[in-house]
Amino acid sequence: MIEIKQLYKSFNNVEVLKGINITMNEGKCNLVIGKSGAGKTVLIKCMVGLFEPTKGQILYDERDFVKMSEKQRKQIRLEMGMLFQGNALFDSMTVEDNVRFPLDMFTSMTKKEKTDRVDEVLSRVNLVGAHKKFPSEISGGMMKRVGIARAIVQKPSYLFCDEPNSGLDPITSIVIDELIQEITQDLNITTVINTHDMNSVMGIGDKVIYIHEGAVHWEGTGNEVMTTKDKELDNFVFASKFWKHIKEEQQEENKP
Ligand SMILES: Nc1ncnc2c1ncn2[C@@H]1O[C@H](COP(=O)(O)OP(=O)(O)OP(=O)(O)O)[C@@H](O)[C@H]1O
Ligand SMILES: [Mg+2]
Repeated sequence: MIEIKQLYKSFNNVEVLKGINITMNEGKCNLVIGKSGAGKTVLIKCMVGLFEPTKGQILYDERDFVKMSEKQRKQIRLEMGMLFQGNALFDSMTVEDNVRFPLDMFTSMTKKEKTDRVDEVLSRVNLVGAHKKFPSEISGGMMKRVGIARAIVQKPSYLFCDEPNSGLDPITSIVIDELIQEITQDLNITTVINTHDMNSVMGIGDKVIYIHEGAVHWEGTGNEVMTTKDKELDNFVFASKFWKHIKEEQQEENKP
């Protein structure tokens, strides 16, 4: 479980996060949505320690990450997996070397243990047979899978995904979403996903958190987004003609 309490972050006296409060549970996909510039990436960066919050608490199963020494943070970082927006794969390394990289860096596992673990996660993301390929030889969807495999190779308790669907077609996006959801449930991970994708909100939004003007404006499930009476959220979610249409259809169906 991750609890964020009264989290603030400013850059040069400009407040981006203004007292964020969120509880995120294990085994669930926690989706953070909000307009471009709302502070979603800043929030994730504070959570993983890439930015120092101005004040507030980030509790990883009751351990306050903000207060910790760098040594204690290192320990918690081992429990985190990260899927970066641009995948951040090493171009000069094969798929298996990319996935093994965190094990080489942060563990004292034997060569055989590492090979077994890499095989296990590559099979988990349906990439058997891609071990020896280079990132330039595989599709965007496959790269995303490699990124996911690398993010879970150390069996994290917390998984962070910043815009996991960016650059993917709608079908591949759904496959990746479902993969993240399955892994979250199977391994009981607390997963945090920043997204713009309404398909994701409906498909895997166990919890949806709408950030507006630096604070949590609304939270609920993906299905509750559909029927929200909140004007601000409604304007954001149903900005596109497509989703407006879907909502109207649903309201029509629900009429007595
Ligand atoms: N390193 C930084 N220095 C100064 N300001 C920053 C820095 N990083 C982010 N910001 C500011 O913080 C605000 C929130 O940015 P952030 O990247 O978190 O938005 P976002 O919600 O992730 O948007 P998007 O949906 O476009 O990814 C923006 O106004 C941005 O300019
Ligand atoms: Mg962002």
